[in-house]
Amino acid sequence: MPKVEINGQTYDAIVDESLLAVARKHKAHIGYACGGNGLCQTCEVIVESGMEALSPMNDVEKAWLTAEKQKNGHRLACQCTFVADKPVKLITRAERARQVFNRAFKEQPKEPSKHPQGYVGEFFTWLGMETLSHLSAVPFVTVNVIQRVAEGKLTLQAVSDTINAANERFPEINQIVTEITGSIPKAVGDLGKGLEPVMNSAGELFKNIGNAVSSTDLNKTLEPVVNGVSSVVKGVTDAVSKVIGGATPSASSAQPDVTPVKVEVKKG
Ligand code: FES
Repeated sequence: MPKVEINGQTYDAIVDESLLAVARKHKAHIGYACGGNGLCQTCEVIVESGMEALSPMNDVEKAWLTAEKQKNGHRLACQCTFVADKPVKLITRAERARQVFNRAFKEQPKEPSKHPQGYVGEFFTWLGMETLSHLSAVPFVTVNVIQRVAEGKLTLQAVSDTINAANERFPEINQIVTEITGSIPKAVGDLGKGLEPVMNSAGELFKNIGNAVSSTDLNKTLEPVVNGVSSVVKGVTDAVSKVIGGATPSASSAQPDVTPVKVEVKKG
């Protein structure tokens, strides 16, 4: 009887049984939002050892998992079955997410992160990569689903499987959602703290640029230009005032230096 270790807990399995079936039987933490029909990727796991005890990767897994993930031992638990009586050790993707999140926002790991932006950066990089790999799989999964429907391998049974799975896991899902929403305010606060040094350096940078500009002879350089422009403007306003006889109140109040010119009109 093969044994499988899921997130540090060991369970008995049977040859020909799928990884997801073992997990469901023992209420181990492997997701199955689509009820095991290869439509959701929530059952993704990372096999750390014992891959030879599992069936080869099928087309559904190849559609969902990037080449990088396939190389690094990722599998869909609903699609792979035990083919040999050998132990398997794995971690779920959900558990990996929990670990990365906790390192970033809940724990204070002794070891510094290898990521340039620390554990917070590590979390957002992980999240971004997961989102990208999920989105990039959509065209392949769509083709795979069409093929399976055409071949009669995917039927309306998938709908009732999905509903049953949701009902079965509702209490757990509800608890997870409550925990996540409860930790968001703290996460945002911690993110703010994480960004503080970045904002401080940006402020320092702008201050230094300001100092550099004010310490140059920029003002002296621009002084003749500014004076030249002022003279031109004054000349124009003088000329206009002479023509209209200083009759515009706004012009006279804005230009106190302008001398009113008396205009005499001679009768012909
Ligand atoms: S349970 Fe949905 S893809 Fe495996």
